Amino acid sequence: MTIVVNLNGTLVPPGEAAVSVFDRGFLYGDSVYEVVRTYRRNPFELGAHLGRLGRSAERLGLELPWAAARTRREVLATLEAVPPAEVADAEAAPWNKGELSLRIIMTRGSGELGLDPALAVDPRAIVIASPLSAPPLAAYRAGVACRIVGVRHEPPGTVDPGAKTGAHLANVLALQEARAAGAHEALLLDRGGAVTEGASSNVFTVHEGAVRTPPLAAGILAGVTRELVLRLARAGGVEVREAPLLPGDLASADELFITSTAREVLPVTALDGRAVGSGRVGPVTTRLHALLRAAADREAAAG
Ligand code: PDD
Repeated sequence: MTIVVNLNGTLVPPGEAAVSVFDRGFLYGDSVYEVVRTYRRNPFELGAHLGRLGRSAERLGLELPWAAARTRREVLATLEAVPPAEVADAEAAPWNKGELSLRIIMTRGSGELGLDPALAVDPRAIVIASPLSAPPLAAYRAGVACRIVGVRHEPPGTVDPGAKTGAHLANVLALQEARAAGAHEALLLDRGGAVTEGASSNVFTVHEGAVRTPPLAAGILAGVTRELVLRLARAGGVEVREAPLLPGDLASADELFITSTAREVLPVTALDGRAVGSGRVGPVTTRLHALLRAAADREAAAG
């Protein structure tokens, strides 16, 4: 497995890629990040990811060490340094074989110990290029299981869930709970009991052909894949609504799916140990995944 790390503009092997124990990303999760994927080794929706990185940093008052144009150049330089995979992952979906994941991390920097952001100097800009870790082909054919977990979503007024920050402990614990129950992904509720999002995904239901997903006002991350799926669905004549969802709406759905950069549109055929709808991958999920795959193919072909 080949991984290349770009540390403040220098390409280094993963074993040499270290940050200070005084880095605030390490100490407090005082950092922002993005995960971008490639198709045919071209970064997909890079502009949207860089835009969100900038907005996340703004929400934290974190001054990014690189402007977007520099980040774009560094991402491309990092990905070009990864040699083609020698052995393709036999279980990967064909369109994911040989593709890469690019994690961009910007920390507020290090400095004297203390919460005060004014103590931060020496911000870090990091790009990690690694083989894409995506669900196997079998997961797209059969769907995956999700679990509504007890860990609650960060309420507005705490760590802003609309910003993609390194403060991810609630998501880690949510996924731990889901995995302990044998589920692929955790779905989180807010303190009022409404569905928000997955630990690292957005969630959608389908009832009688109509798609629904919680609105951004639910305090969720504006997923790049979520936005794209909403746009493609509307353009394709699929009825979509951004409206609150309760656990009962998930349980009664004909179809359920989650979206994220690596997963694309991933069918969910079991929720809390019960079948969703027929228990098989449904036609709306299949159609939306096909629309997303076609959009990715078009962007990859355009280079
Ligand atoms: N996570 N919601 C949360 C909390 C997320 O962390 C993510 C993505 C998403 C989906 O966003 P997008 O479609 O832009 O990938 C929703 C990334 C991929 C991660 O942490 O690995």
